[in-house]
Amino acid sequence: MGFKIGLLGLGTVGTGTAKILLSPQGRHPLIQELEIYRVGVRDLSKTRDVNISPEILTTDLEAIATDPDVDIIIELIGGLEPARSLILKAIENGKHIVTANKAVISRYGPEIFEAANAKGVYVMLEAAVAGGIPVIQPLKESLGVNRIHSVIGIINGTTNYILTRMQKEGADFADVLDDAQKLGYAEADPTADVDGLDARDKIAILASLAFAGRIKLEDIHCEGIRQVTAADIAYAERLDFVIKLLAIAKHDPKNTNSTTEELQLRVHPTLVPKTHPLASINDVYNAILIAGEPIGQVMFFGPGAGEGPTASAVVSDIMSIAAILQTETEPIPHPLLSCTHQHYCEIAPIIELVTRFYARFLTQDKPGVIGKLGSAFGKHDVSLKSVVQTGIQEQLAEIVVVTHDVREGNFRQALEEVQSLDVIDSIASVLRVL
Ligand code: HSE
Repeated sequence: MGFKIGLLGLGTVGTGTAKILLSPQGRHPLIQELEIYRVGVRDLSKTRDVNISPEILTTDLEAIATDPDVDIIIELIGGLEPARSLILKAIENGKHIVTANKAVISRYGPEIFEAANAKGVYVMLEAAVAGGIPVIQPLKESLGVNRIHSVIGIINGTTNYILTRMQKEGADFADVLDDAQKLGYAEADPTADVDGLDARDKIAILASLAFAGRIKLEDIHCEGIRQVTAADIAYAERLDFVIKLLAIAKHDPKNTNSTTEELQLRVHPTLVPKTHPLASINDVYNAILIAGEPIGQVMFFGPGAGEGPTASAVVSDIMSIAAILQTETEPIPHPLLSCTHQHYCEIAPIIELVTRFYARFLTQDKPGVIGKLGSAFGKHDVSLKSVVQTGIQEQLAEIVVVTHDVREGNFRQALEEVQSLDVIDSIASVLRVL
């Protein structure tokens, strides 16, 4: 018995998916059971890098989503609409879904999974987070026995590439971004990547699986990498850190005794100790470090994007669905593969976060400045681990501090006080430390 695939989108990932399906030799035998039945594209006349028979191409994507002969819809068109509507339409018509669309799933997951559960179909999304790295299936299945404590990821390849080059070349953000765009590593509109929004969508999905609850995107504190300077990367290096855009989902340790469990959920550039496993993840690579009980720590590493890797994740999902369809007579919600949680996770406000900070100040170069800085921090319970005066810039002294763990709300109050000191010219940067 074969399964008919309706492929929506024949861009980079769609092409990679078709290539795998059309060349099953040496792969799992189930792939031979998968037939590319119809393919929805925007432009029928476009030259393709894969041998798809023109008769199965159409620009009518809804006709594929409603075609009674199609078993599984692969949504690879990206963006919010018409992707969301097509997924819902396909579910309404009893199709199983495989999607790489983190934007749709992180915003409309509840609507989509409720519709899927009501209809007894599966919605699979391994390709939506970290491209070819298997992390969704491990969270659902292999790690399911664990109490997850934290998920910390480098899950945006574009920003990791930019930060890696800034570090290696001592270059500024704008110059590296410009070059990355010319080389095709960054989009013409880089907003979703460099402002952390892509990583926010992905950590929402990972957190939802790790902590078995729904996540509201607006609850996730999100900062991108535009404010990271070559100077900060150089100071971080001297202090034995590298700067990475981390997406973090963590049980808030302050609330372990509380009946409502709060999560920390945040995306921001972070000083990562050079000895930390995530510090060595460079270039476009992604990695996700998951800590839980009893497993301890596991790290998933690999290519977070690209035709082949993302297509590998897509086809693995198609295989999982095909395997179930081959063995089940009645479509019942599979307890490991379907989404059953309905409550929203409680997210701790960012001011309640307890973390270390790095801050760089430009100050007057005269006696007593460091003393005044120390007093302002001390007044708000901020304990400093190190204070380094690093140099003079246009007659201003540059002072870098790293704090001990401190409540973010206290740190912000201290910064306000520091800002008002007459010896302070400006607060050049503030970053959190892992
Ligand atoms: N734009 C993403 C990144 C790849 O740079 O990682 C697709 O998720």
